[in-house]
Amino acid sequence: MLHINPTKTNSWKKLLIHFNKIKDLNIIDFFKNDKNRFNRFSYFLNKNILIDFSKNILNNKTIKLFLKLLNEINFNYYLLSIIEGRKLNFTENKFVTNFLLRDVNNFFINNKYIKCKNLLTEKKFIDNNLSKIKLFTKNILRGKWLSFSKKKIINIVNIGIGGSDLGVRTIIKSLNLYKKKNINMFFVSNIDVEDIYNVLNKISPENTLFIICSKSFTTQETILNFNISRKWILDYYKNNILSLNNHFIIVTSNYLKAKEYNLNDNNIFIVSNWVGGRYSFCTPFGLAISLFIGFKNFKKLLLGAHSIDKHFFFNDFNKNIPILLAIISIWYNNFFKFNNELILVYNEKLSLFPLYLQQLFMESNGKNIDYNNNLINDYNTSQVLFGGLGTISQHSFFQLLHQGTHIIPCDFIIECCYSNNIYNSYYKLLSNLISQSQSLAFGSNILNNKNLFINHNKFIGNRPNNVLLIKKINPYNIGSLIALYEYKVFTQGVIWNICSFDQYGVELGKKMSNLIYPLIKKNNLDINKKYNFFLDSSTINLIKNFKKFNNNNNK
Ligand code: F6P
Repeated sequence: MLHINPTKTNSWKKLLIHFNKIKDLNIIDFFKNDKNRFNRFSYFLNKNILIDFSKNILNNKTIKLFLKLLNEINFNYYLLSIIEGRKLNFTENKFVTNFLLRDVNNFFINNKYIKCKNLLTEKKFIDNNLSKIKLFTKNILRGKWLSFSKKKIINIVNIGIGGSDLGVRTIIKSLNLYKKKNINMFFVSNIDVEDIYNVLNKISPENTLFIICSKSFTTQETILNFNISRKWILDYYKNNILSLNNHFIIVTSNYLKAKEYNLNDNNIFIVSNWVGGRYSFCTPFGLAISLFIGFKNFKKLLLGAHSIDKHFFFNDFNKNIPILLAIISIWYNNFFKFNNELILVYNEKLSLFPLYLQQLFMESNGKNIDYNNNLINDYNTSQVLFGGLGTISQHSFFQLLHQGTHIIPCDFIIECCYSNNIYNSYYKLLSNLISQSQSLAFGSNILNNKNLFINHNKFIGNRPNNVLLIKKINPYNIGSLIALYEYKVFTQGVIWNICSFDQYGVELGKKMSNLIYPLIKKNNLDINKKYNFFLDSSTINLIKNFKKFNNNNNK
């Protein structure tokens, strides 16, 4: 059977029985009863990443029952569908073949895994794009591509939002050690023009390149910021339209819309329409990454993701890390009803990673309609994901993590090859991560003298968490880490019987914004006029009072 409500399966019913048997067990007891627990519930990924999932309220039977569930819902069909080119993005009728974007050495083609002609054609298009990225990167970094006033480009401004910004921003922040000298990166997303002017005020038009990233090329934030940057360049070059080709690159799936801006085809990178924004870091949407770390390192980023593609497609489910992370997450979300999830990164360079995963997780799986067009009302889909920097969050929301009524499973992530241990700061960073993971899991039991803790300062513990040790934050491992979570999201979406690849949920807000905008722009709001939408007293008075505050402010 395919596309079934998971709660109707026999395996789900057995998991419920199993849940009632173990739900009140303590994580610390799992360790006391099994000295070998860590070895049983931890795996090395490519020898570069250690996943420790031993501090969870689960045992081998839990994993076995979930594996039965995967078999019962025919998970293998979905996994093979990716490679065979079936359109798993069933609402938009599109491929879900992100693995093609990073198969830079043609592993899947050379080993004859790809039979679908459309995918073979796609792969040629993808290879051409990679060659174009490589050439463009070389031309910029070697000073062959100059500004209109014949200056070397040193400032790159990536203008985009959501998947056209978060991936690039997160990856560049994490790989600052690989920064090409004389390249300064800037990012603009917000429609609040303070964002773009904070950048423009720091740089000069004569050595700046703008990369305008928008798959649809209709996103209002990006088009507005594009228009501001375009005027900024034209003002500098006294409205000489020819200057645009030296200072603008467009990355989009909407060639026709892009062509309206008088740029050469050489300045336009086209991305296949089946690639979702939040899955697009391996495409020309990652152009700024290649400029920042060089094409060789950009290729390593893709190879790291590719290594997880192979892990996901060829590893048995019980040793398949994305699948295990997905199983653990569903165990808490759908059986324990822990409906939040937390990503805690302990390295400054990973500080944007939780933000990136928010879009990846919640824009993919924040859905309430299943494959069969039914409203989902008997189980939860995506958790609410949030996150932050480890030690800083320990002084903000860790109180709730330890003693709140909500139990929030966490992923702790840290790099192990530190570059600076001054005053043993790195050991202190690691000791914070490890002690937080321990005390969340074991509570006050961790200390022999439990009398220290009564009532208000008692720590019940039993707050589950995974720990990911990354040997070194480098392009390869960042690519692996992202792909790991991409496939966790994929696996959860299949189990939840939803489409993880569309995002209709963002459309209503966009539509209403375009309808409300004229009401704000006009001087007087005519409330008796017939509108083709429900105009409520809150909206009317918010607009009115916004204007009153604004006018007062101008007095
Ligand atoms: O948030 C909605 C969304 O469509 C994302 O899926 C996408 O990454 C972002 O907006 C930007 O869209 P575009 O790349 O079309 O500008």
